[in-house]
Amino acid sequence: MTPPHKPHPAATKVACVMVGLPARGKTYVARKIARYLAWLGHHSRIFNVGNYRRNAVGAVQPHDFFDPSNPESVAMRKEVASRALEDMLLWFDRAGDAPASGAVLTNSPISPAPNRSLKTESVTGVGRAGPGWVAVYDATNSTAERRRGIYEKCVENGIQVMFIESICDKDDIILANIKEVKLSSPDYAGMDPDKAVEDFVRRISHYSEYYETLDPAECNCQIPFVKVINVGDQVIVNKVKGYLQSRIVYFLMNLNITPKCFYFTRHGESLFNVAGRIGGDADLSPRGQDFARKLPTLITENLGGETQLTVWTSTLKRTIQTAAYLPYTQIQWKQLDELDSGVCDQLTYEEIAEKYPQDFSERDQDKFNYRYHGGESYRDLVQRLEPVIMELERHHERDHSILIVGHQAVLRAIYAYFLNYSLDELPYVKIPLHAVVKLTPKAYGCIEERFTVDVPAVDTHRPSPHPALNAKNKS
Ligand code: ATP
Ligand code: F6P
Repeated sequence: MTPPHKPHPAATKVACVMVGLPARGKTYVARKIARYLAWLGHHSRIFNVGNYRRNAVGAVQPHDFFDPSNPESVAMRKEVASRALEDMLLWFDRAGDAPASGAVLTNSPISPAPNRSLKTESVTGVGRAGPGWVAVYDATNSTAERRRGIYEKCVENGIQVMFIESICDKDDIILANIKEVKLSSPDYAGMDPDKAVEDFVRRISHYSEYYETLDPAECNCQIPFVKVINVGDQVIVNKVKGYLQSRIVYFLMNLNITPKCFYFTRHGESLFNVAGRIGGDADLSPRGQDFARKLPTLITENLGGETQLTVWTSTLKRTIQTAAYLPYTQIQWKQLDELDSGVCDQLTYEEIAEKYPQDFSERDQDKFNYRYHGGESYRDLVQRLEPVIMELERHHERDHSILIVGHQAVLRAIYAYFLNYSLDELPYVKIPLHAVVKLTPKAYGCIEERFTVDVPAVDTHRPSPHPALNAKNKS
């Protein structure tokens, strides 16, 4: 059953406070952290001061709106920043009123509702069991004085704070960032791109006039922070304590801003797929073997610029047999083994419904959290897959890509991480047999391509009885 959503009084509440000049990747990092934690089952939400500003005064503002010698705009910017901060404190206090399920984790900017209602903005996984509540306060937070105010408010409210600064002095990266995300921002809608770049550079110089980098002496020498310098060339950690905080530091250390595309496919059709049985360690069916033989050509035809590939399989026969003809380095990961269906292993869905009717219906009611007796839940699977996600985030070798030959549940979890599906939707993602999916992560999203080969296979997807959870699936 779904426990009440109010944070437990002892629940960890962490505010990640972003620090950095414009176009240093703060929003990028904020979204990544929120996504990563929500996928792991924690509650996470971003408070983006830029969105509050756009809501309050309109998106299109010339650079002098950010000029520190302009008293009116200074007051307005202070006002929207404190509104966002108040909302964050309210969220920590009242997040329990948010809907328990169906909350959408979205890549689109989280715009504040005019009445500052908390319900519509929640960026969370279902969060039924995840004990952590993590907010990311996304603004430049460019002075020690302003950070001190945030630190004190959080401490007064029992919230642990962690500052995350992104420093980058590489002009080429900053220019690329401006071109990649700022020109398409509502702030520059319809503007000539050269003029927009020029205006944004002037906006940065206004902030640079008074910007103060984080200093261990801030907040009476108690300030916990991570400084990420030049996209991870150097990472400085100061007074960071706590489980969630450590996970965040670890994640930041692996984060890479030019994540490479990667490919995945399910194994070829297996004898168990044909028989409608779940789990097991069956061989490929004749059609599955045909897919395995055709896979090398399908891959080389669609490799794009990548000249090298590493193939990751599980330790189960059906993925190893599927990868058998691929002329690339292969690595077997135990973590990539299919969801363990415990006592239901090797049964058909009909047999499960007959032998374990209550379990069968409980699983339909809450598939993400349902754990097979003696086996795993999707929630367990996500925890097991964390190192795989970390490796995919970290991987950035030039001309080199990864192909995962995996299983239905495992690939659903990986796909849901990159495509921002909610944890309720995750167990229903449709990943057909005999299709290769290529994912190319971008600054604020992910491009998906699918390549198929003409080898028929059974359909192993059982849709949810709740149609909304199937809605995002491609036909
Ligand atoms: P603003 O203050 O205007 O909101 P921002 O600091 O939030 O700017 P983003 O909008 O997040 O900047 O910029 C996104 C771009 O930053 C992407 O192109 C991304 O690749 C890049 N990026 C991500 N992380 C870093 C980093 N650590 N250092 C520099 N650039 C980064
Ligand atoms: O200039 C970039 C920006 O993200 C604006 O969109 C936003 O209004 C501002 O920074 C928030 O930071 P600050 O609180 O320093 O004004």
